Amino acid sequence: MPSHKSEPAEEHEMEAFLAHFKGTRALIESNLKQLVVNNEPLLDVLFKAINYSLYSGGKRVRPQFCFIVGEMLGVPEEQLISSACALEMIHTASLIMDDLPHMDDGKIRRGKPANHLVFGQDVAALASIGLLTRAYEVVLNDPVLPDDKKIAVVGKLANVVGSDGLVGGQFVDLKYSDDTMDHSTLEYIHMNKTASLFVTSGTTAAIIGNATMETTRALEAYAGNLGFAFQILDDLLDASGNPREVGKELQKDKGGFVTLYGIEKSRQLVLAYTEKALNAIKIFDGRNDKLIGLCHILLNRKS
Ligand code: FPP
Ligand code: MG
Repeated sequence: MPSHKSEPAEEHEMEAFLAHFKGTRALIESNLKQLVVNNEPLLDVLFKAINYSLYSGGKRVRPQFCFIVGEMLGVPEEQLISSACALEMIHTASLIMDDLPHMDDGKIRRGKPANHLVFGQDVAALASIGLLTRAYEVVLNDPVLPDDKKIAVVGKLANVVGSDGLVGGQFVDLKYSDDTMDHSTLEYIHMNKTASLFVTSGTTAAIIGNATMETTRALEAYAGNLGFAFQILDDLLDASGNPREVGKELQKDKGGFVTLYGIEKSRQLVLAYTEKALNAIKIFDGRNDKLIGLCHILLNRKS
């Protein structure tokens, strides 16, 4: 990606951030392993399917964002774990379902055969729903989160999955995506299908950290714009990325940003949305380095 106007982070800052990112990723994965367990031998195959997708090399971007916001707001790490893991579980569940033949019919996910191609459509559908439902349980059973926070977080997570979020975005994508799609339909799809879970990842941490309305709005603006930049980059990778690096089939998207605007204009849009995301977090000057780092990592990705 071409560099955007805002100052790129210094190399040593990026290295420190990458090390931090790796540490958080390990923390998330060890907690997921404790939160998603099976004690029933009859369900071994179901949990194999769940674990196949849950540990398939995801970047854990949503929980990372949740942790960054929580740290910025001074929230103790242990209060963020259940929400961060729930966000990743919801994301993984949505990808298993997205790949099903009657949905987006994906065959390769993160460089490996899609879940249903290994375990069958019936098992994949149950793995997706099982993981989604477990996400809510994980927050509700959190031993350290106060009850009022649990209720607010679960409410947000339910809202973002339903017709106001992922389900709505996926529906419009499946039913209205084509090469004649206009900007507002495309915006609806990506705001709901992709950006909304990013936004909620910050909002849940903001809820737990008792953030002010101004802080919450700024984080939502950052996440919404970054989510958009991320999606346009996804379309650019779909149009011109390297299949081995991207880890899924390419040239599959119907009527994405590249179809509507072409490659050059789409690249400019990535920069414009990134700029908006970075502007939104200027109010956190002096403590927004990790939010800036996350932006750089996401927009320099090849997969
Ligand atoms: C991938 O988009 C799909 C999504 C980000 C969301 C899918 C949402 C659902 C299936 C509804 C919600 C369901 C659950 C279980 C939470 P893409 O096809 O553009 O990206 P891709 O190329 O990575 O598949
Ligand atoms: Mg898909």
